[in-house]
Amino acid sequence: MPANITQDQLVDALNEDLAFELSSMIQYLTYAAKVSGPSRPELKTFFEAEIPDETGHAQYLAGKIVALGGEPTTTPKPVARAVSAKEMLQAILAAETDAHDRYAKRSAQAEALGMKGLQVQLEDMARDESEHRDETLRILRRWEDD
Ligand SMILES: [Fe+2]
Ligand SMILES: [Fe+2]
Repeated sequence: MPANITQDQLVDALNEDLAFELSSMIQYLTYAAKVSGPSRPELKTFFEAEIPDETGHAQYLAGKIVALGGEPTTTPKPVARAVSAKEMLQAILAAETDAHDRYAKRSAQAEALGMKGLQVQLEDMARDESEHRDETLRILRRWEDD
């Protein structure tokens, strides 16, 4: 079961989550700058609107890692390269799906360690990521015929 980890292992896992959040911030920021085509105005707005959410997740994780005696990473995971709007949305869909699944697992691990506050926060973050994922999926449906 994924819940069978020590607190030190949980801190390492939260640091991996933080690296993905830093990547997510950069991904939205960069895609907002680069997105082109007839949908640029709305996609730029959509991408930019996600930056504060991902920043909030990163801030929470960095603070929690320090509170648990760890050192927050400053190295983001690589951002998927994407040129077209469709490629950007597909890369975001993959990242948000992965983020949701990681936080669902992480909240169970926090629960197993009796860390209720962390568990609830991670559940909130899993919900945020699932909303990002579902919204991206709805936008992508318009590109299905391309
Ligand atoms: Fe996030
Ligand atoms: Fe997200």
